[in-house]
Amino acid sequence: MNILILGSGGREHALAWAVKQNPKCDRLIVAPGNAGTATLAENADIDILDGATVVTFCEENAVDFVIIGPEAPLAAGVADACRAAGLLTFGPSAAAARLEASKAFTKDICDACGAPTAAWARFTEAASARAYVQAQGAPIVVKADGLAAGKGVVVAMTEAEALAALDEMFGGSLGAAGAEVVIEEFMAGEEASFFILTDGTTALPIGTAQDHKRAFDGDTGPNTGGMGAYSPAPVLTEAIQKQAMDEIVLPAIAEMARRGTPYQGVLYAGLMIQDGKARLVEYNCRFGDPEAQVLMMRLGAQALDLMHACAEGRLTGARVNWADDHALTVVMAAKGYPGAYAKGSEIRGLDRCPEDSRHMVFHAGTVETDGRILANGGRVLNVTARGDTLEDARNRAYAMIDHLRWPEGFCRSDIGWRALRK
Ligand code: AMP
Ligand code: GLY
Repeated sequence: MNILILGSGGREHALAWAVKQNPKCDRLIVAPGNAGTATLAENADIDILDGATVVTFCEENAVDFVIIGPEAPLAAGVADACRAAGLLTFGPSAAAARLEASKAFTKDICDACGAPTAAWARFTEAASARAYVQAQGAPIVVKADGLAAGKGVVVAMTEAEALAALDEMFGGSLGAAGAEVVIEEFMAGEEASFFILTDGTTALPIGTAQDHKRAFDGDTGPNTGGMGAYSPAPVLTEAIQKQAMDEIVLPAIAEMARRGTPYQGVLYAGLMIQDGKARLVEYNCRFGDPEAQVLMMRLGAQALDLMHACAEGRLTGARVNWADDHALTVVMAAKGYPGAYAKGSEIRGLDRCPEDSRHMVFHAGTVETDGRILANGGRVLNVTARGDTLEDARNRAYAMIDHLRWPEGFCRSDIGWRALRK
C-alpha cells in the first residue's frame, strides 16, 4: 500500500513511525512533514488545505490510502474531496468534523441523545450573553463556537473574566469563530481523553491518555497545545470507559448516522470525571497532539491495520492487541512558547538518543539544514518512551532528555505527576 499522511507535527511523525513498521506499508509520504518524518518517509510540500491539490497529488503518486492528521484539512473538506475521487481515506467528512469545528453543534448532538455534559446556552449577541452570565454567576465557561486554535475557551473564575471574554469574542478578536458563543456550566473533576475509532456504525476504543495543558511545572503558566502526555489514563477505569461508551460516544455516533452525516475516523472525547462518572467536555475529530505520540508508541504497527479497517468500514470484529504497558511523552518547546519564540536554534545530541520500540524522539517543529536539526516551531520535540510501568516510561523519557543539548528549549519536569501520585 502507498500511504499519504497529511500534517507536519509530532502527531504525524508518530503516525508515520507506527504505519511504517507495518509490512503492508510500501511507500510512505508525509505532507508537508518535518525533519523527523523525512527520516522514515518522503516529505511532500503541498497545500494540504486544498482538496483538489491533495487528490491530484494522490493520483500522480499512486496513493492507495490517505490518513488525515490535523483538524484544519478535515474542516476544509479534504476527506470529502478524497473520497469523492475514490481514494480510501481515514478521517471524517466536513459535515461530521463539525463535532470539533462547532461547539454548539456538539452540544446539540449531546442534547439529542441525552449525553451527560455541562448545561449550556448559545448566543449571537452580547447583551443577552452578558445577562446570562450575570444570572448564572461564576465560575462559568465561555467558548467561541468555531475553531480558534486553542484560544476559544475561557474558563472564567469570576464574572468579570467571563464578561471580558464575551466583549473580546463579540468584539471580533477571534473573527468568524467568535460570532456565536456558547456559555457553559463549569465542571469540576479530573480531565482525561478517550480515543475511539468508528466507521460510522461500529466503534472500537483504542486507548486513553492525559495531557498537561499548562506550560510550567505544577500545572502553572499559560495554556499550551499540550506539554506532555501519558497512556493509559488511570482515572479512566474500565467501568468509566463503559459508561462513556454507552452514554456519550455510541449515542453520538448513532445520532450522526441518523442525520445522514456518519462519522468515520478517530473520535477524541475529552471527558471530565467526577464521582466515578464521565461527562463530555468536547469532541475532537482527530488524534490529539501529543496524545497520538503515546498511543502510537503503544499500538505500533497495528495502528495501520486499525485505521485501514476503519476507512474500509470493517471495524466489526476488529480488535486491539494490548500489551500491559505504559507510554509517556515529554514535549520540548522553544523558550517563550506559547508566546513569542525564536526559530533556528540548533538541537544537538539527538544521535545519542536510542530509537527502538521503547524509545523515540518524535519531531514536531523541526527542519534539517546541512545535516543539522534546527528548531522551527513552538513545540519542537516529543521525547517518548514505553515501559512496563508509568514510572519506567517516565524515567526512560527523561533519561533521553539528558542526552539532548538545546539551551534555547525547555520542558516540564513533572509529566505524569497526577497518575504517578496515585
Ligand atoms: P478546548 O480548547 O476546547 O480544548 O478546551 C480547553 C479546556 O477548557 C478543556 O480541556 C478543559 O480543561 C476546559 N473546559 C472546557 N469546558 C469546560 C467546562 N464546561 N468546565 C470546566 N472546564 C472546561
Ligand atoms: N493535546 C490536545 C489536543 O490535541 O487537542
